[in-house]
Amino acid sequence: MKITIIGHGYVGLVTACVFADFGNIVYVIGHTKEKIERLKKGDPIIYEPGLKEILERNIQAKRIFFSLDYDSIKLSEIVFITVGTPPKENGEADLTAVFEVAKNIAKNLGNHFTVVSCKSTVPVGTNKKVETILKKYSPKNSQFAVASCPEFLREGSAIADTIYADRVVIGSESKKAIDMLLKLHEPIEGRKVVTDLASAELIKYTSNAMLATKISFANLISFYCEKTDADVEAVLDAVGLDKRIGRVFMYPGVGYGGSCFPKDVMAMIDVGKKLNIDTLLLEAVEKINLQAKENFLQKVLKFNQGKKIALWGLAFKPNTDDIRFAPSIFLIENLLKKGFEITAYDPEAKKNIEKIFGNKIKYSKDPYEAVKNADQLLIITEWNEFKQIDLQKVKKLLKKPIIFDGRNIYDPSLMKKLGFKYYSVGRI
Ligand code: UDX
Repeated sequence: MKITIIGHGYVGLVTACVFADFGNIVYVIGHTKEKIERLKKGDPIIYEPGLKEILERNIQAKRIFFSLDYDSIKLSEIVFITVGTPPKENGEADLTAVFEVAKNIAKNLGNHFTVVSCKSTVPVGTNKKVETILKKYSPKNSQFAVASCPEFLREGSAIADTIYADRVVIGSESKKAIDMLLKLHEPIEGRKVVTDLASAELIKYTSNAMLATKISFANLISFYCEKTDADVEAVLDAVGLDKRIGRVFMYPGVGYGGSCFPKDVMAMIDVGKKLNIDTLLLEAVEKINLQAKENFLQKVLKFNQGKKIALWGLAFKPNTDDIRFAPSIFLIENLLKKGFEITAYDPEAKKNIEKIFGNKIKYSKDPYEAVKNADQLLIITEWNEFKQIDLQKVKKLLKKPIIFDGRNIYDPSLMKKLGFKYYSVGRI
């Protein structure tokens, strides 16, 4: 099929590359000349494992094209909107980019049937508004239908998540649009769920709100454990054996970050308020997430052994360079205010953090260099390379053998044996 994808962030570019790899012709539209030029040369701009290879392969095979203009809409059977929907001050999702893009699509529609589908996470009811815009700005005889086709990929494993999906959700009032989207998604594994527009939109928000709730629940239990000398991992391991509950996505830490959970929980609260629904549960999820970061900060402020901090992990999770709503930002801001000196190490996110903090903190090229002469080490992101690092060497390099681990990556009894003072989350 011929498809156009508008936006080339984590969702847009990964989706484009995967569909191109299946043999489709994919046109990607952006609005920054410099970025489009880089993409044309095979530079994905963002860091996502495996993305560069798949991008280069499909550029060479002439299955993926990048452009600033909307000409490809006329050639395309399906158009995906994958632009950002960042939160406004009040938590409401900012849909300016979605509506702007919808207007541009409308003006460029050809005279064949076109499916316009939102993959961006948008509040329930948005696709109807997109439909109104398409009707208003499209040429008289154009034929189109809107569909919601939300994306569930996780950064860091985005390609595998797209190809081996748990489910593909397609919501539309048009049978023809549903059939075309089913055809496009045929090679993708996972159950195909066909539903109405509003349900499809709500499925995405519900998934993210549920996952965020699981994390906040785990963090809440970690607070109980810290006050009672219980071990949160032992508690959740046992609780998770109950098949009705499960263990996945119940790992306590320094709170969730990223481009989805914080903004989607906020947006769901905003939509709930507009619909006159009591959003108590979701507000608690958000509040506990802040408490998780705060709790870790207080631990560092109380037990630190000096002003020099080595900090491992800046990205909001491993295998990405993304720092949107990363707990590291909250911690660095607050620690700087308290007069700490920070030397940070992250395999991918340094460049992005540098844009915020510049030379207010120092950066290291490797984890050992970061800990040299530091009074303590803070671990904020659980990159694999920290998991089996030479802890004896770390101990020797640190001025004092103290680790604050915000992701529970080491065994507390082993750390004790190695002679570390080890503070983790919800464990003695
Ligand atoms: C999430 C959803 O998982 C994905 O389906 C959706 O499409 C986009 O949002 P992503 O934000 O890329 O994906 O990462 P995810 O792996 O879900 O992690 C989000 C945050 O939660 C990270 O900060 C992570 O550290 C944190 N987390 C996750 C926990 O603190 N505990 C857990 O048990 C799981």
